[in-house]
Amino acid sequence: MPPRIYADNAATTRLSEKALEAMLPYFREEFGNPSAIHSYGVEAKKALEDARRRTAKVLGALSTEIFFTSGGTESDNWAIRGVAEQKGGKGGHIVSSRAEHNAVLKTLEKLEGEGFETTYLEPDRLGRISPEDLERSIRPDTILISLMTANNVTGTIQNVKELARVASLRRVAFHTDAVQAAGHVPVNCRDLGVDLLSVSAHKFHGPKGVGVLYAKIPRLPPPLLTGGGQERGGRSGTENVPGAVGLATALEEAAERTREAPGALEALRDRLISGILEIEGAALTGDPVNRLPGHASFVFEGIGHSARLVNSLNEAGICASSGSACSASSQEASHVLLSMGYSPREALGSLRLTLSHENTMEEAEFIIEKVRESALRHRTRPAT
Ligand SMILES: Cc1ncc(COP(=O)(O)O)c(C=O)c1O
Repeated sequence: MPPRIYADNAATTRLSEKALEAMLPYFREEFGNPSAIHSYGVEAKKALEDARRRTAKVLGALSTEIFFTSGGTESDNWAIRGVAEQKGGKGGHIVSSRAEHNAVLKTLEKLEGEGFETTYLEPDRLGRISPEDLERSIRPDTILISLMTANNVTGTIQNVKELARVASLRRVAFHTDAVQAAGHVPVNCRDLGVDLLSVSAHKFHGPKGVGVLYAKIPRLPPPLLTGGGQERGGRSGTENVPGAVGLATALEEAAERTREAPGALEALRDRLISGILEIEGAALTGDPVNRLPGHASFVFEGIGHSARLVNSLNEAGICASSGSACSASSQEASHVLLSMGYSPREALGSLRLTLSHENTMEEAEFIIEKVRESALRHRTRPAT
């Protein structure tokens, strides 16, 4: 196979060597069940609690506010369904936005069928939610606000601190999906002032199938999964000890990387953006300033469906995405771009290139060259 350049880090990332090494003993020698009282159980429990403490430290939380889950989807489901159940389970009003991930939107859709009412805020052209709009949307029966920290399609970072402040002043629980943000920009739960926050390890070079729900005391929602009462009764199921160890290690490593080489990834991203914007018909999507450090996303005028562009790039050895990973194989325009005011035709021409610290400037230059070639090849009509 020819050399490949991986530029789809918003979909998932390579597991870090350090995280893998840290996990291996808990598959091999120390494979115990943390609930067991013998020495294998004790060692596993120690590792789990150590991982919880380290995770809490990076996320600006208490250990008792960190609950390990199977990933971002479960954390989002637990936060939203949990609050709905906590508030009686029979109705109430929830505020969110049209630009959220489907883990939030589909959960809300189900709750609508169960008698809950929802208001979806419209982001602006850059993907930002206005605190004033949020303020206006809150009703006496509003039980929850769920707004993401950073968007998976455009990389736009919200002013979550301000949005959470609005919620707090109106005494409404605030959940944020920080799956794309954690490990990429500082995420400090206490400082953000949120009640509930979702994290997923595979987005920051941790393993797949493990995540976190941060729940500020005493905001822990009732469990989604019932059974043996693990995670202090919050989430039943034998704990994924290697996963938790891998998550904590990768999260610490990511925080260290940003401390030690601030701006390194942004420099790669900015070169990619400036190079691609020189291509006729290309436009940046999302906030040009407040965006994830490795996230470059575009729409291309006049190329039709960007899957053709992604396929050509793949043939050149570049792994990119036409939008979000979950909708990459569908022919539908991204609901995120539509919510930001793009027409279906514009949104179909979207390309997402998401870099990590493993990418190089040479790769960025190569990507620019290949995107230019592919865009020219697929242009069906002149850009206007
Ligand atoms: C913003 C956002 N939320 C939630 C998820 C789901 O996370 P997981 O894959 O860990 O279930 C993703 C994954 O693409 C995401 O980007």
